[in-house]
Amino acid sequence: MESLNEQLVENIDRYIEELFAPPDEALSQNLKEADAAGLPPIQISPNQGKLLYLLVKLSGAKRVMEIGTLGGYSTTWLARALPPDGTLITLEWEARHAAVARQNLERAGVGSIVEILQGRASDSLEALISDGAAPFDVIFIDADKAGYVEYLELALKLSRPGTLILVDNVIRNGLVLNPDPPDAADHGARAYNDAIASHPRLESVILPIIRTRIDGMAISIVRT
Ligand code: SAH
Ligand code: DHB
Ligand code: MG
Repeated sequence: MESLNEQLVENIDRYIEELFAPPDEALSQNLKEADAAGLPPIQISPNQGKLLYLLVKLSGAKRVMEIGTLGGYSTTWLARALPPDGTLITLEWEARHAAVARQNLERAGVGSIVEILQGRASDSLEALISDGAAPFDVIFIDADKAGYVEYLELALKLSRPGTLILVDNVIRNGLVLNPDPPDAADHGARAYNDAIASHPRLESVILPIIRTRIDGMAISIVRT
């Protein structure tokens, strides 16, 4: 196969974006505020946001959990797919990110259904488990990649049969093709892919996400 034409791929992503994820006041402002506060621009793309939104709607979710809030860009897409009595709990380690996200979510009009738990994701997950939190309908994992396998095991304790588990950045421009990637994030993503491929409680696939670089989103359904 001929190598991917990067310009063409970018143009196709923009074409889809213009059709299905056009500019939006709250989302544009979200990115402006995050940039002004010095947050890294590592949020999901508009098209991936639309995909998350559709998957949450498709699943009829009322309870969503996100791991890795940043400035609340993906949080906004997820929250918009929930009914008024829905709940979204999002976990963020950096207090500064959580503060920017809180303001952004309020401005986007979804603040009342979003709870931000500031702290290490593993600690917040353990606390939710020991508090006997109700299972989530959709769980989106997008924090430190080295923690992905641990987050999966904890997320499963907060799941029911049918829970959808979505995970960002599992292809990393193909760096996960290396059986033993030197970088901890690539290593974590590859370990995650191996874990879901053989997991007795999951049925899964990875959807390539094409932007300027190729990444991917893992999609799993909890079967038991
Ligand atoms: N989901 C966001 C992007 C998240 S970027 C979006 O698409 O808009 C990853 C986030 O995970 C960062 O904000 C980072 O601070 C957070 N993070 C990293 N390690 C973490 C940990 N151990 N616990 C909780 N959050 C963590
Ligand atoms: C990067 C991208 C992400 O989607 C993420 O969650 C973390 C880091 C990056 O491009 O560095
Ligand atoms: Mg990501």
